[in-house]
Amino acid sequence: MSDIQDYIDQHIDTFQEQLFEFLRIPSVSTDRDKRNDVRRAALFLTEQLEEIGLDKVTLHETAGHPIVTAEKMVGEDRPTVLIYGHYDVQPPDPEELWTTPPFEPTVKEGRVYARGASDDKGQSFTHLKSVEAFLKTGSALPVNVKYLLEGEEEIGSPHLVPFIEEHKEALACDMVLISDTAMFDEDQPSITFGLRGLAYMEVHVTGPNRDLHSGVFGGAVENPVNVLAEIIGKLKGEDGVIRIDGFYEDVLPMTPEEREAVKALPFDEEEYKRDLGLTALHGEQGYSTLERASARPTLDVNGIWGGYQKEGAKTVLPAKAGAKISMRLVPDQDPDKIARLFERQVRALAPDTVTVEVEAHHGGYPVVIDLDFYGLKAAAKAFSDVYGKEVLFSREGGSIPIVADFKKVLGVNSILMGFGLTRDALHSPNESFFLKDFHRGIKTSARFFEVLAEMASEQG
Ligand code: BES
Ligand code: ZN
Repeated sequence: MSDIQDYIDQHIDTFQEQLFEFLRIPSVSTDRDKRNDVRRAALFLTEQLEEIGLDKVTLHETAGHPIVTAEKMVGEDRPTVLIYGHYDVQPPDPEELWTTPPFEPTVKEGRVYARGASDDKGQSFTHLKSVEAFLKTGSALPVNVKYLLEGEEEIGSPHLVPFIEEHKEALACDMVLISDTAMFDEDQPSITFGLRGLAYMEVHVTGPNRDLHSGVFGGAVENPVNVLAEIIGKLKGEDGVIRIDGFYEDVLPMTPEEREAVKALPFDEEEYKRDLGLTALHGEQGYSTLERASARPTLDVNGIWGGYQKEGAKTVLPAKAGAKISMRLVPDQDPDKIARLFERQVRALAPDTVTVEVEAHHGGYPVVIDLDFYGLKAAAKAFSDVYGKEVLFSREGGSIPIVADFKKVLGVNSILMGFGLTRDALHSPNESFFLKDFHRGIKTSARFFEVLAEMASEQG
């Protein structure tokens, strides 16, 4: 065992305490009232980075939440790894469904329960502690590291792309390292080589100029909630195929080899259903569950409203209805084009008895990373050294839009080294993270820097 791995073992309790302190900060980026808490989380990171001994630790103000950067340069001949993570979290809602308070980290059966435990405080913090192990033991850090930590990932990173463009030189690197995804299964490390993109839309349907008596007017006046339901119903067929003209135009079909690779993954569909409390699954015909949830595009209503929602029955013909609808995208779909096609389809489906407004929220491009990239090989070796198991390569259905921008603006690939699990309940009540994966994550990160440096020097 090396000094580095020893240091991590000896300090794991302190690392956990520090993580819990981080988790106690309710850094909810969507909530204006939590602005100061989001800032506190950024300050917590700057203090950590300073304390670890990084250089150029900086908190950059943006029109939104701050961006934190730092670096440690050890040699021009060494590869440079840009570590990206996000310190903002999703709202804890619905809070009443949490068994323990969302911002009071609680350990149960080896897991820490708190909002952000997995997404992304617990996961991203591993890469601070791994670098600490090198710097505090006086061991030579094998690679150059740079940090880019943002507080707006959960709201679509509105200020990050301009920031990267503006700081292109300072952020120059050979690859980006991100831990904000999931492992394939418990104790089964995996590297995510594909993420879906996103087009997020909001639709408003307006009918009469006020809510009406549904007996007096019902039958003669179009009901906006009915109209919205019909429109949504027509956007996807029973076969799971999305009925938006041109929607599949740019979708790269999976190759037979890719489909074979997905089939070979050790996926237990019964367990998947059991975990979700479902007796049956549904999706696009002709594709497996794993393919549907990672390599095929989707359309889902995220929220819908209109009419009377409180207790009892109020007879009313509502004047308005609305819905938030997201589409997950795969290469080579373009979120702006998909947003336009969606709007055109919704307008074409709407009767002239109502008015329809369509608005596009933030979006993001999908990505697939080339499996030949040597950074992925280094990550695979680091994982198998620490977990004692070969890694699997899989695509995931979630989105980290900045990954496509790293490629576009900085010209580099990202390594998605997830330590979380799909069962961590990201964005749901009772989010959690295995402390054993926090521990192994720090070790894997440290090992990755060593293996990467070895591989780079072999490549000359
Ligand atoms: N960590 C997730 C993304 C993720 C989760 C990727 C699981 C792969 C597996 C990230 O924080 C997230 O939630 N992203 C948003 C992006 C959106 C706000 C633009 C998402 O996927 O909904
Ligand atoms: Zn998230």
